[in-house]
Amino acid sequence: MTTPAPNLPEEDLLFRLLRQLDIAPEASQRATAEALDISLGRLNALLRAVTEAGLVRLAQRDSADRRARVAYALTARGAAEKVRLTDRFLARKLAEYDALHAELTGTGSGFSFLKSRTLMMQNHLAPVPELYVSADSAQKLKREAADLVSWDLTPRQTCDLELLMNGGFNPLKGFLGQEDYESVVETMRLADGTLWPMPITLDVSEDFAAKVEPGQDIALRDAEGVILAILSIGDKYIPNKAREALMVFGADDVAHPAVNYLHHVAGPVYLGGAITGIQQPVHYDFRARRDTPNELRAYFRKLGWRKIVAFQTRNPLHRAHQELTFRAAKEAQANLLIHPVVGMTKPGDVDHFTRVRCYEAVLDKYPAATTHMSLLNLAMRMAGPREAVWHGLIRKNHGCTHFIVGRDHAGPGKNSQGVDFYGPYDAQELFKAHEAEIGIEMVDFKHMVYVQEKAQYYPANEVPEGDTILDISGTELRRRLREGLEIPEWFSFPEVVKELRRTSPPRSQQGFTVFFTGLSGSGKSTIANAIMVKLMEQGGRPVTLLDGDVVRKHLSSELGFSKEHRDINIRRIGYVASEITKNGGIAICAPIAPYTATRRAVREMIESFGAFIEVHVATSLEECERRDRKGLYKLAREGKIKEFTGISDPYEAPTAAELVVDTEGMDVDYCAQQVLLKLESMGLIAA
Ligand code: PPS
Repeated sequence: MTTPAPNLPEEDLLFRLLRQLDIAPEASQRATAEALDISLGRLNALLRAVTEAGLVRLAQRDSADRRARVAYALTARGAAEKVRLTDRFLARKLAEYDALHAELTGTGSGFSFLKSRTLMMQNHLAPVPELYVSADSAQKLKREAADLVSWDLTPRQTCDLELLMNGGFNPLKGFLGQEDYESVVETMRLADGTLWPMPITLDVSEDFAAKVEPGQDIALRDAEGVILAILSIGDKYIPNKAREALMVFGADDVAHPAVNYLHHVAGPVYLGGAITGIQQPVHYDFRARRDTPNELRAYFRKLGWRKIVAFQTRNPLHRAHQELTFRAAKEAQANLLIHPVVGMTKPGDVDHFTRVRCYEAVLDKYPAATTHMSLLNLAMRMAGPREAVWHGLIRKNHGCTHFIVGRDHAGPGKNSQGVDFYGPYDAQELFKAHEAEIGIEMVDFKHMVYVQEKAQYYPANEVPEGDTILDISGTELRRRLREGLEIPEWFSFPEVVKELRRTSPPRSQQGFTVFFTGLSGSGKSTIANAIMVKLMEQGGRPVTLLDGDVVRKHLSSELGFSKEHRDINIRRIGYVASEITKNGGIAICAPIAPYTATRRAVREMIESFGAFIEVHVATSLEECERRDRKGLYKLAREGKIKEFTGISDPYEAPTAAELVVDTEGMDVDYCAQQVLLKLESMGLIAA
């Protein structure tokens, strides 16, 4: 945050001035001076000082009329300073009130001396501070921001920004600067000691970072180019990503989705600084079900709900979840908030449209007077214990008093050695250790299981001895859906199963991608063509072949063979294949795709919609060179073609492909047959 310049007025006057300019930016100087009860001369001096200090800027109104009055607008820094001064002002007033209360009654008022108004008022469901400016200022800022350098937010950054602006990430006032970032990574606390377990950072590319400097304001735009906020850059730094992975996620292992994101998606430079919110991101889906923290608080206030237990979920609700939420509400004697995440969850999860339809289907089974459902646009990191603490703080900001933490909360699954990243109850332990500071009570549960003899659910540790436990894991449920098998009524509700079956038809009706990779001349295209024809002969789903050469002609004609260009080429293929897969078609890709990380990114893109079958056509370099069907190896050896895969450029052979075929000594038909058998064994085509 900016330190006010020495010639600035004392805090009270500065606060009143910033407030006045924010409320009535276009008022005449005389009116402003009157509102502040100071002379015009004094006001002029003050305006000069705050403008010089970068807290306020002069904004000419759009008018050709030179007599038109000028208006003053708060800069993003000025807006942040105003928020800071408001906090201090309120804290001081409350302290004065407390002292007066003690003097008159002999006891304190119950307000403790806290650093900011936020903590104090949350207990009473009072509004949590947001980072938005007033509607008038927003209009004005938006016009001015059009001239600023702008950054197009990634989907994850858009989620983070929304929660920063609406107070979901309170007490954060923007993206973390280096000092706070390092402190959060190392100690789960901001530099001032406040508990905050998750680095909320704005990662950008090197090119973009080179264009901006601390002290500069930039516009943050959503995917459609709408300006959502202004970031006053306070810091530009290069993070130690390996350290971040180790400390925040427990291991620098790309099997963890957030570590993979950190290394392969996030940009190399972080920008930190205060946010001035202009507008919230627009959501066209389930609008009525989305609430900001303050909307939820107002709703709880209106209904007179004092105790609210929040249930976080990224999965459809089945009977075990319902039982767990009922028990939690009973145990805490609280109302229930079903608070599913609809921002970003674990890659491969059921999409949020389907999930929300499932939630709506089960909502009828809850008592309407005591239960509410609201959608949270959070981008999860799957960071287990740290994530649980973070979720607690977020729910606290949304006005909840209790929070359910079950088995393996926000668990990312297994690491690259096949071992779980976190213990099943690590999240509960870390939460417990910080419960008081989070300011929300944990309702912890063991894993819920169905007891056949009792025909009801029990926490795993309370099952009567000798009784039979029935359980269906997430993996087993997905298998049953995939294979069109029965899902028993004791496990889920028919309405939920129906919804899931609508979006997850049996595998033999889903889209999928067969991704061939191998050296030039290895036989990828020939096998891919054979497969295409055989699948078309079977019929049922549309088949598209994205062959390396063909893609380069139609989709990537401007690209060469540098690492950067190859990556763009493969990502384009991945994108097209993911769209085909999503819409129930079969995509067959046959590029060289020499890099493991890029193939992995493509796999992720596709696996959220259907199966991805990587086929390594492992014909040796010697054999490809011997065949040299296009004469390119000869040219490459002579140095006439640069960066030629296998000769002067790397090929990283897959280590975990679904299938490896070797064309040496095998005819194409045999290789194609192997691929078809694989597809059959995976249930993707009828046997
Ligand atoms: S990549 O790396 O996946 O983007 O390559 P890809 O698009 O599949 O390459 C398609 C064909 O381009 C020919 N070609 C080269 N390959 C490798 N390195 C260099 N420098 C190069 N220059 C041209 C090559 O014949 C590829 O054909 P295939 O279909 O693989 O035989």
